[in-house]
Amino acid sequence: MFALGILVAVTSTVSALHVTDVEYYDLPRLFHLDDWEECAARRGRYCLGTFDLMPHQNERLYSVIQHLSADRYRFNHTRIHRGLCLPSSCAHVRDPSPRAHFSACVNHMTRDQYGLETNLTELQYCRIAGNTQPVDRWDLTFLYVTGLLLLANIVGTTYHLMASKDGTLIKQLVAWSVVDNWRRLTVNHSNGGDARLSALKPLQGMKALTLVLVVMAHSVLAYHLTYLYNPRFFEQSSHHILSAYMQNGTSIVQTFIMVSSFLLAYNLLLHAADNPKKQLSLKMFPRCLLHRIARICPLYMFVLGLATTWWTRGGDGPLWSPMVEDEAARCRDKWWVQVLFANNFIKPDDRCLIHTWFLAVDMQLYIVCAVLTLLLGRWPRVAVKILTVCIFGSMLMNFAIIYNWQLKPMVQLMIPELMRTQFPGERSFTWLYSAPWDSLPSALIGLLAAFLYHCHQEDGYQPAQSRCLRILYRLSVPCMFLWVLGGYWMKDVTRPLVVALYATVDRPVFMALTAFAMYGFINKIDSVWWKFLSWRGWELLGRMSLSIYLTHWLISLTLLAQRTNTNRAAVFDIGCHWLGTIFLSYCAALPLHLLVELPAMRFLQSLAM
Ligand SMILES: *[C@@H]1O[C@H](CO)[C@@H](O)[C@H](O)[C@H]1NC(C)=O
Ligand SMILES: *[C@@H]1O[C@H](CO)[C@@H](O)[C@H](O)[C@H]1NC(C)=O
Repeated sequence: MFALGILVAVTSTVSALHVTDVEYYDLPRLFHLDDWEECAARRGRYCLGTFDLMPHQNERLYSVIQHLSADRYRFNHTRIHRGLCLPSSCAHVRDPSPRAHFSACVNHMTRDQYGLETNLTELQYCRIAGNTQPVDRWDLTFLYVTGLLLLANIVGTTYHLMASKDGTLIKQLVAWSVVDNWRRLTVNHSNGGDARLSALKPLQGMKALTLVLVVMAHSVLAYHLTYLYNPRFFEQSSHHILSAYMQNGTSIVQTFIMVSSFLLAYNLLLHAADNPKKQLSLKMFPRCLLHRIARICPLYMFVLGLATTWWTRGGDGPLWSPMVEDEAARCRDKWWVQVLFANNFIKPDDRCLIHTWFLAVDMQLYIVCAVLTLLLGRWPRVAVKILTVCIFGSMLMNFAIIYNWQLKPMVQLMIPELMRTQFPGERSFTWLYSAPWDSLPSALIGLLAAFLYHCHQEDGYQPAQSRCLRILYRLSVPCMFLWVLGGYWMKDVTRPLVVALYATVDRPVFMALTAFAMYGFINKIDSVWWKFLSWRGWELLGRMSLSIYLTHWLISLTLLAQRTNTNRAAVFDIGCHWLGTIFLSYCAALPLHLLVELPAMRFLQSLAM
């Protein structure tokens, strides 16, 4: 009897949550957009907004909607999103203010069709379709800066080509030579160069591949920001086991942090080994920092300038305003925070180019890593021990932070409704995902790998000869995939201790595996991976990583925001969007790298040194 009671209770809760296909399609559509072009042609007023559904005559439908929305992996169906052209959609409703007209119009439609009331909770805009903003001071300033940069390139290139080959060239001018920069982009270090540096070739392959995967994840995120024709696609696919790679794959960005701290430490150690008179010391810190800032800042500011000015004029459509113009407006508001690399701390909830959290964290950790390397560089063997302790210490600190503030791992945040709104006010996003301390273990692992690699080279140690290492190396790449997949079983875990433990070890374990694999790649433990990752193509793409990383989000948003209808989500559609974004990002990155990033970096460095 008791068991039967439990059975009935269980099945009734399950059936309460289970909504049949027919019932699903009886609900009001989550998204709807009127024809934008028609509205522009008729000079109508296009309004876009979000409405809360409220019970009216149809209580049953309302409770079905509420049950459905209780599932975290569904969009919140009590909130519907509408873009309507007024007055053509509601000629019979008369109201003087556009807001009231829009609100009454949607209310009428939902009541007639579904027996539910609506309340306008967020009005994105009401404007005459097709009207554009006039050019302002920011736009003009950006135009002048771009003109100046082009002029500098023309002058630099002409000077480089005209100047006699034997005389000494002025470094500040040659820095702007496109010919010289093209040579730098395509130079092949492996022919007669430093063998220690050419051994690092697989790193470029790792960077390029990581970037391709990051663009994929961001393509999926960008799809969530649009009005979807079939929101059900994401609701269903997020239960699929392979979706774990989407929801739990965010650790992969850490590869950049690990590789960049590895390169920083390794290059400094090589520098110290080549110049025995110049010991590493904190006195070199300002130079290191300037070097980094000269590399990142000019291009970053250029892209930020583009995003706050002419980007908003690159298209139009019903979603152009929420997806592009609002983002640009937030960027104008906090551009100085972005330039100071503090966007993950100051106004963290105003999302300006969501992917730039990484640049801030990278710069903050660069400072930590540079100080550590300069302090410990003289005693690499001691450094290995100290860094190991630091890694575990930082993980302990993270555990305390996560447990104390009850933060959640990213895999539990990747749910449709939060992705649609870009994690608004989500503490775990601000204080864990995009906070420097959660990436600190990865940076330290990179440092440790550099010190270990350096020591092994000095000792003439050959890891390829160790059978144990060879086996572990073979296991490392499959383990990386398995570890990410393991997040699938963490999606619904709620016990605070387990959640905090998982959130603490998630990134460090993945990075330890990646670092181990990297160690194997650069030691040529097997030639297949080495050949694949050392391909010349990756080298070129790897060098342009920063330009590609900075532009891909703008391109992804542009491609989706200029569509004038609801977007159909499907594996092939998103796949094509992903490939299109990659292709266009590479196309945009080439001139950015050649005409802005490289010359500005070389120019600034030649001034400072
Ligand atoms: C869905 O949205 C409604 C209205 O904004 C809100 O009251 C409700 O709490 C949301 N439901 C979930 C599960 O977040
Ligand atoms: C409608 O939404 C507004 C917020 O936009 C809120 O203040 C108001 O209470 C809501 N009305 C009802 C009846 O829920």
